Amino acid sequence: MAQMTLAEKIGQLNLMAAGEGLMTGARQPTSLAGRLDTGQVGAIFGTKSLATARAMQERALAGSRLRIPLFFAEDVIHGHRTVFPLNIGLACSWDMDLIAATSRFAAAEAAAEGLHQVYAPMVDISRDARWGRVAEGPGEEPLLAARIAAAAVRGFQGKDPAGKGRVAACLKHFVAYGAPESGRDYDNVSLAWEDLLATYLPPFSAGVEAGAASVMVAFNAVNKLPMHANGPLIEGWLRAGTGFDGLVVSDYTGVAELVAHGLGPAPVAVARAIHAGVDMDMVGEDYLRELPALAKSGVDAPDAGISLTGAQVTALVDRACRRVLDFKQRLGLLDDPFRGMAKTARPPARGRGRALARKAAASAAVLLKNDGVLPLAAETRVALIGPFAADRANMLGTWAVSGRAEDVTPLGEAVTALTGQVPAIAWGANIVDEDWLVQRLNVHGVTVRQDPRPEAEIMAEALATAGQAEVIIAAVGEAKEHAGESSSRLSPDLPAPQRRLIAALAATGKPLVVVLFAGRPLALGAVAEQADALLYAWHGGVAGPEGVADLLFGAANPSGRLAMALPAHPGEVPLSYAHEPTGRPFPGHFAKFRTGWLDMPDDAPRFPFGFGLSYGQVEYGMPQLSRPRALADRPVTLRINVTNSGPCEVVETVQLYASDPVARITRPGRWLIDFQQVTLPPGTSRELRFRVTSDQFSYPIAPSLEGAEWVRDPGLIQLHIGPNSRDTQMAELTWLS
Ligand code: NOJ
Repeated sequence: MAQMTLAEKIGQLNLMAAGEGLMTGARQPTSLAGRLDTGQVGAIFGTKSLATARAMQERALAGSRLRIPLFFAEDVIHGHRTVFPLNIGLACSWDMDLIAATSRFAAAEAAAEGLHQVYAPMVDISRDARWGRVAEGPGEEPLLAARIAAAAVRGFQGKDPAGKGRVAACLKHFVAYGAPESGRDYDNVSLAWEDLLATYLPPFSAGVEAGAASVMVAFNAVNKLPMHANGPLIEGWLRAGTGFDGLVVSDYTGVAELVAHGLGPAPVAVARAIHAGVDMDMVGEDYLRELPALAKSGVDAPDAGISLTGAQVTALVDRACRRVLDFKQRLGLLDDPFRGMAKTARPPARGRGRALARKAAASAAVLLKNDGVLPLAAETRVALIGPFAADRANMLGTWAVSGRAEDVTPLGEAVTALTGQVPAIAWGANIVDEDWLVQRLNVHGVTVRQDPRPEAEIMAEALATAGQAEVIIAAVGEAKEHAGESSSRLSPDLPAPQRRLIAALAATGKPLVVVLFAGRPLALGAVAEQADALLYAWHGGVAGPEGVADLLFGAANPSGRLAMALPAHPGEVPLSYAHEPTGRPFPGHFAKFRTGWLDMPDDAPRFPFGFGLSYGQVEYGMPQLSRPRALADRPVTLRINVTNSGPCEVVETVQLYASDPVARITRPGRWLIDFQQVTLPPGTSRELRFRVTSDQFSYPIAPSLEGAEWVRDPGLIQLHIGPNSRDTQMAELTWLS
């Protein structure tokens, strides 16, 4: 660094898009070649091939006086070329080894393409199914999300992100991006500091603890301060608080967008971002444009609350540049600019990835209902009806930038390959029926094909096809562009034409299995009652339909558990099992005075967090505590017997929740403190032991971020154990101090 000029240092902070059509913000990338030739680029994302990355590296080295290499990044969100199920689906597996394995495979594919960093894992908690990016995330629950964050980081980075087939992880989006007002993507977030600390930040601390080498900042403001200028959270909570010493990157044009947030004109916005700890500026190039003058003359903007001398700005440039170079050093690039980019680099065997993707797809799907119709015998004559019965492209789901539709085996073919039968297939319904919406959904390419025939004709064909079968399988849901970035939905339910299809199929009286391919939890309303069996398959990736076929025909046993609750009605969101208690209804009073909805029946089927069925029969014994009263520094053991009395092996996820009936502030109704996943062969019992420690019950009191204090109270705690967040048994424990 001592040899670097100011311009060279500022160049290192410039993060550019390779520019092959990838654009998620307002600005198109400027000419990359010119920037490379003048040493004005620190890193590039979206190269798409090893040859491109190598060519860019060569050009960057030639254009850099000190031959400082680039690093290459990509959005590898749920797989790379081998697309795994959406992250919300992977979260439903509750299987950390599986999540680590998919991340590891994705890392190996990415590394073989010359990539050094992936913009993953996305660890944004969300309780709002309207928000389209729930597809990319770990769901609604902080403990589950924290474990997922750690597992993904482990999978991507291994012990060393510079290791063979490894990449640097990037935790995103820091922070609370999943809680925007009304579920509208990019919108700002207002929440209690207690919620930020206890719900939205834990996945980030877990990711940092697992060694994540980088973090990406979120577009939104948190409690009025946009994250790209949020020093208290970036330099404060993240760096000083967790000890994170990696690289912080902006999101796409996030620095430039501070101007629109009302934080100042571009020079002030830049000063605020770099001061807040945003080390690299993605795509906007505002650092490149503004920092030279700022470093000379400083900034004095009392209206924006920032005043820095030129020397102070220069010191901030040094700080950010050092972090970029440290990151490159950690990736081994300062020793070898082509590390991991050898022309002979080979991706891992695709067959291995497919097998993992198929297992992941079966593990991600959640069986929500089964009136005995599943599993099907191989010879059961089935009709596959619905817009996803033969679909490929939508199965990839959102943010699968390197996936290819031709890699997907569609459901019909998957059923044939598994059972030998060729099912009758009918289109059944359009995904949506509004033309303007079709156009919006097809903005990134065509995944929503419309059947131009009148609905009555499409439906008549579907019913005739159903008539030939013993069991109807309806393949319905959302298009891949329905969920994802900038794809919030006002009404997260099954689109109307498909609801009409389900109603008509149910009216035939034939056994009806509904398979939902979606990017978010959908409110199912009447569909949940009309179906005899319901399988929530998300967008399952390249082998999604094969995983579904395995489950339908019993080649695999469902084990997925919802990582996010499914509402009964779209108006119920945001929704969480951890909902805080209120004083209503009060005992003995007219039930109208309650927390709930007047216009929704109380027994409307919702599917709670953690819920999922299998083809087995698991019974829970009574939970036993090693002692009912304990000193706070003495762990307690909770034991429980689980017995599989069904005919097949099951994977059971035993979930332990807690509630705190008396605390200093209102606490969540219950919250997850631990879970264990066990495989139970038929007819076997296992005793599980959970270690319960008093720090599992600490919580923040936070009049402000800086004034936050984690406290732990003596007294009664209720422990709830069971197969989901609702159907639990209780044990009581008293902490004596
Ligand atoms: C914007 C998205 O918010 C972020 O998740 C992604 O990594 C970047 N664009 C780069 O594509």
